[in-house]
Amino acid sequence: MKKNYKKSFKYLEQSRKLIPSLTQTFSRAAYTFVEGAYPVYAAKGTGSHFVDVDGNEYIDYLCGLGPIILGHKYTQVDKAIKEQLKDGILFSLPHKLEIDVAELLCKMIPCSEMVKFSKTGSGAATGAVRGARAITKRDKIAYCGSGGVWHDWYACIISRNRGVPEFNNDLILPFDYNDIESLEYIFEKHPSQISCVFMEPTIFEKPTNSFLQKVKKLARENGSVLIFDEIVTGFRLANGGGQEYFGVEPDIAVLGKGIANGMPLSAVVGKSEYMKVFDDVFFSTTYASETLSLAAARATINEFKEKSVIKKMWKNGNMLMNQFNIISQEQGLDIMLTGYPVRMRLTCNDDKGNDSILMKSLLIQEMVTRGIFMHPGVEYISFSHSVEDVNKTIKSYNDAVLIVKKAVRENKVESYLKGKPIRSVYTVIKPSEKKLAN
Ligand SMILES: Cc1ncc(COP(=O)(O)O)c(C=O)c1O
Repeated sequence: MKKNYKKSFKYLEQSRKLIPSLTQTFSRAAYTFVEGAYPVYAAKGTGSHFVDVDGNEYIDYLCGLGPIILGHKYTQVDKAIKEQLKDGILFSLPHKLEIDVAELLCKMIPCSEMVKFSKTGSGAATGAVRGARAITKRDKIAYCGSGGVWHDWYACIISRNRGVPEFNNDLILPFDYNDIESLEYIFEKHPSQISCVFMEPTIFEKPTNSFLQKVKKLARENGSVLIFDEIVTGFRLANGGGQEYFGVEPDIAVLGKGIANGMPLSAVVGKSEYMKVFDDVFFSTTYASETLSLAAARATINEFKEKSVIKKMWKNGNMLMNQFNIISQEQGLDIMLTGYPVRMRLTCNDDKGNDSILMKSLLIQEMVTRGIFMHPGVEYISFSHSVEDVNKTIKSYNDAVLIVKKAVRENKVESYLKGKPIRSVYTVIKPSEKKLAN
């Protein structure tokens, strides 16, 4: 069971000299896991599993940070990429695949009548906000989400905010999920100034009291564009994303992650009356017409259409969540998988109900040792995850939880750690406007 991470650690040392923050994506950096007791470099993957550079194999609950929605090395998608590669990658003219994928998206995503492709979720979100600003001739945005690092405007509400012009801070006004008054407050305080309400339809918390419907109504009444960030919820909650799942259509939505099973593609989609703004607004990148990703997207979307992708992910995710939480309860530990079966949140609280980084570090350390790769915050499931994967995960949790329990009982959790406790990538530092005022 003991794993050897020799190559991983060697490459990590090399990266210290070459790569700021050790990797290209903060969320993949060694310090976000249990550094010293966790693999650092991946080598290859198949289905729901991946293998690290030292040859250790894992069931993957991070799925490439979400995009690997069908599974690693998924036959139909890989075949489509290889086929397209025979014809070339990127051309001096547009490619018909742009139309094919746009048509598929318009059939699948409720608000989608027109589509602009981009390469990253950040790029699409940035474009969508710019479009809304151009349409409304207003600069401010009301924001509700995980406070992500994905847009330069947003970077001023999280801890890693250096380098963002001060004035951006005045342009982003956060509101709280399920607190409609916190959005009303923004509209009252900044009348006729809010270009868009930009939000994730859900993160882990479920909307209550018709929250999303009320948000839409408020946006309408105040002449603001409603934008859903469906980069995670798209292709995950339902074929048509959060907007289909919750029955609330935004004016514009941004998609990414699962859209092409790991190939770099994102999209701004929406009603034509809004999307037409991009006839003029300069939202454009050299690589948006790159055909391998578009071919991958076409194959991915066709899989969603033809197979019960969503149904299977929900079913297996549900099974995992339920069994996991029952074990925790039986052991008397406040370790839970909450949120949605297709996007779960791992929480570990101590006996006083406080979030325990040490307990969480120990838990994921013990899981990874048993071949289960978990993230300290969010767990994703893919179409390739099987009932056997879930059973193996539960079996491993049954063993791992006993070690955590013992460590908690002995009040020595830290001494059970074979590496450094996990560190979070960022924290949200700007509270909602309403909270700021109180
Ligand atoms: C909700 C959400 N929006 C946007 C992004 C940014 O996407 P990308 O990392 O592709 O730029 C992310 C990335 O994790 C995200 O989770």
